[in-house]
Amino acid sequence: MLLILVSARLALAWGALGHQLTGQIATAYLSKEAKEAVDALLPARWYGNLSRACTWADEIKGRRYYAWSSKLHYIDCQVDMHARICSVDLDRDCRNGACIVGAIYNYTERLDPGNGYPLDQQAEALRFLIHFVGDMAQPLHASGIYRGGNDWHVIFDNRTSHLNGMSIKRPYNMHSIWDSSIMEKDIREHHGGQVSNYIKSIMYDLEYGQWEDEKYDWIECKSPYVTRSGRSTPACAVEWAKISNALNCETVWVGVEPRDKVDLGGEYYRRNAPILRKTIAQGGIRMAALLNSLFANESDDAETWFQPGRFLIVQ
Ligand code: ADE
Ligand code: ZN
Ligand code: ZN
Repeated sequence: MLLILVSARLALAWGALGHQLTGQIATAYLSKEAKEAVDALLPARWYGNLSRACTWADEIKGRRYYAWSSKLHYIDCQVDMHARICSVDLDRDCRNGACIVGAIYNYTERLDPGNGYPLDQQAEALRFLIHFVGDMAQPLHASGIYRGGNDWHVIFDNRTSHLNGMSIKRPYNMHSIWDSSIMEKDIREHHGGQVSNYIKSIMYDLEYGQWEDEKYDWIECKSPYVTRSGRSTPACAVEWAKISNALNCETVWVGVEPRDKVDLGGEYYRRNAPILRKTIAQGGIRMAALLNSLFANESDDAETWFQPGRFLIVQ
């Protein structure tokens, strides 16, 4: 019984890892103003820890009081692998704004200090917003087929999962492969089993490596979202949805059939691990830029929202 409890807790922690990483990356890019605002809005027992707060929305979505929030974690967009057509259409995929894209706009409004929502609502908005910015970067959260891959069962590493050194059989589905398994394997096989090495290598790429310049494109909206108080923000939720949705046609669903014959722990894993790593980096950068814009002083112009990371990484 104790063993079951322990492994259930571990499983939860692993599922949450992607969100924790986006929160940790974002923290390195927060402005002084945003850091102070976030510290004031989060519960004291979380010590202003954005990465702790990033998993809250998944923890509460099963409670009856928050049942309405469970459909805000995704947008079911077109993924037609026969015609190789992916597309996002808000009228079709996000009726009444009840999807992740609508939720990101809604919680951006509620968090905007200029809109004057009560502090408890601003705090709740922060907890939802940072989670949804992370979910939005995961391609299957913009995929309308097989319930975002939850109903598509696959083989990964001969179905054996190596959780905490134990080999346990567990059935995999496409969604959990992208939420956890690809990242777990990448950490295990290429980062010495240390989460800290994984995040360091992402931060290195962001500051000095392959994304040093590209990261600024990730927070450029074609159409910046202007809140009711008149604040222009990089809450580019439709554009983020299109990027995630397109990945479904380009790589997520490529080479996954016949599903009883293909082991996704091989070539599929090697092709997609770097892509997943990039989506985590994007989630963190978008989160920081959005929070920085919401808490910037009126006089700041857009160029000051986003500065190089404040953690110097020596490798
Ligand atoms: N349920 C239905 N569609 C989903 C998706 N794209 N992601 C997660 N859960 C879902
Ligand atoms: Zn979620
Ligand atoms: Zn997910």
